[in-house]
Amino acid sequence: FPVPLIHISETNSTNNYLQTLCARQKVGELTTVVADFQTSGRGQRGNSWESEPLKNLLFSFVLFPVFWEARCQFLISQIISLAIKEELSTYTEDISIKWPNDIYWKEKKICGILIENDLMGRNICQSIAGIGININQEEFYSPAPNPVSLYQITGKRHDVFKILKNIMIRVQSYYAKLQKGDITQITNQYEKSLFRKEGMHRYKDIDGEFLARIICVEPEGRLILEDEKQVRRAYMFKEVEYL
Ligand code: BTN
Repeated sequence: FPVPLIHISETNSTNNYLQTLCARQKVGELTTVVADFQTSGRGQRGNSWESEPLKNLLFSFVLFPVFWEARCQFLISQIISLAIKEELSTYTEDISIKWPNDIYWKEKKICGILIENDLMGRNICQSIAGIGININQEEFYSPAPNPVSLYQITGKRHDVFKILKNIMIRVQSYYAKLQKGDITQITNQYEKSLFRKEGMHRYKDIDGEFLARIICVEPEGRLILEDEKQVRRAYMFKEVEYL
């Protein structure tokens, strides 16, 4: 396996498991924890992450980025999204990255990412990335967040460990690029991969609904939209909703 791997059958959350492990002992960079089942998988915004046992990929890995300012957090998010997007694209078309870091197939969510950073002053000293990818689940019982699995898309079952291995190979290679400062390629690839990159779409912010198109994503992660009146609007995470 390309990185140190811990496989457990059950935990409350692989993010929690890895956080505890890192607090207790020295853990190598890119150490990965994968679980067959989570009893309280966590999503963004305090949501839960549902997954039937043994069907999907539920894993977390740790990075110790020594010299990055907190504003570079978004780069971590970008390389992880790209690694997953590229791997899933070997199985099907129409995979995109919904800003900031959901992975979509067409209009449905196939993967969610929860990154938890520990800061030391203004620098990130530890970043735990938790990833849930719907692989072999045949049916979903809750309509949110509009889930879909690779099985539902391709009509076939897939080897979750093979996918995990390939994703970690891709993460490793993007991470090496990032450490070399090779940022332009990462940012370009990310922008090219964006969900709703083309055309006008409906969005909603605190002032209500509007039509807009995506102009770009800034290096620090703000999404720049342009509305029908050609007015540019900039959003941080959670400040705008896709309709
Ligand atoms: C989201 O809300 O989109 C993020 C979902 C992240 C789920 C994964 S599953 C593995 C890891 N452990 C957790 O508790 N959450 C993440």
